[in-house]
Amino acid sequence: MTRYAAIAGWGKYLPQRVLTNTDLERMVATSDEWIRERTGIAERRLASEGECSSTLAVRAARQALQQADLPAFSLDLIILATSTPDHFFPATACLVQDALGAIHAGAFDLEAACSGFLYALTVGTQLIRGGLCENILVVATETLSRFVNWQDRSTCVLFGDGAGAAVLRATDRRRGLISSTLGAYGAGGELLILPAGGSARPATQQTLDGGQHFIHMKGNQIFRFAVRKMSEAALEVLEKAGLSLEELDLFVPHQANLRIIQAVGQRLNLPEERIFVNLQRYGNMSAATIPIALCEAAESGLLQEGHVVVASAFGAGLTWAGALLIWGRP
Ligand code: ACO
Repeated sequence: MTRYAAIAGWGKYLPQRVLTNTDLERMVATSDEWIRERTGIAERRLASEGECSSTLAVRAARQALQQADLPAFSLDLIILATSTPDHFFPATACLVQDALGAIHAGAFDLEAACSGFLYALTVGTQLIRGGLCENILVVATETLSRFVNWQDRSTCVLFGDGAGAAVLRATDRRRGLISSTLGAYGAGGELLILPAGGSARPATQQTLDGGQHFIHMKGNQIFRFAVRKMSEAALEVLEKAGLSLEELDLFVPHQANLRIIQAVGQRLNLPEERIFVNLQRYGNMSAATIPIALCEAAESGLLQEGHVVVASAFGAGLTWAGALLIWGRP
């Protein structure tokens, strides 16, 4: 009998603090009009003092576990996707394991930037389908606000903080991830980078003074790459699953820029009502974006039992990923 890995529960956490475009007008030379027209974003959430990537992840994970009706001690593994860990080490996944009391779970972090959740979902699904695990928590969490240069208008208006989680459980029902694709173009790494603080450029007074511990991005070059790769990834996972665009119920793209989403929608010839968009409220939360979008699509009834959903993402690396899921519990 074929084994699948259904999404048995999902959860999200958005910090309370809201930063609007009008707030940003008081911080850098920008305008609400520019941000809305060029990105579609109206506001984003920021972690407050005392919150960090692990605490956001724990809130999302608890909700997902509760919904899956699964005690944390029944988890076999925690895979945590982030580009903004609490520390280089220990892994943020281990901090989450401790906070949840998931005493039987292995735990590791996975770094694939905005594609991280789809990478983690693919790894987790394969570990269940291969028989190594029964229950896996996949959680994506980001506190990008801690790594943004709040004086750089070309990046600080784009990002937000949040976490999303999914509990994967083994089942013989054809549910969960059916096909996926993972890709990378390492030659484009310099286009989106946090240059210093790692082994290549350890922290010095000079790196601090030079703003090398903040996100640096060449946004317009990533834009074209994003449109191409997100479209191709969506088509590839449909083809692998033997399904057509007409059979797709909902497309959940990475939420970085409304113009990117619209351009992908046009390439795929998808009507607006079959494309999920929530970036106006949250901005780009990197790896956390897609699980939060899936949660909200399910909460609002857009995702129903048996629906075919395709998600695709791109991010630093450069990386990209696509996933086709059949929605529904084990
Ligand atoms: N307010 C006002 N003006 C601005 C702002 C701002 N916040 N930011 C940039 N500008 C100006 C620029 O200085 C430039 O001015 P100039 O023409 O006088 O030089 C002008 O606006 C146009 O700048 P562009 O960068 O060409 O603007 P573009 O239309 O490409 O939009 C944006 C920029 C929104 C960044 C877009 O390129 C984009 O979304 N790219 C994708 C980036 C992305 O998604 N990155 C995340 C990857 S995910 C991850 O891994 C974290």
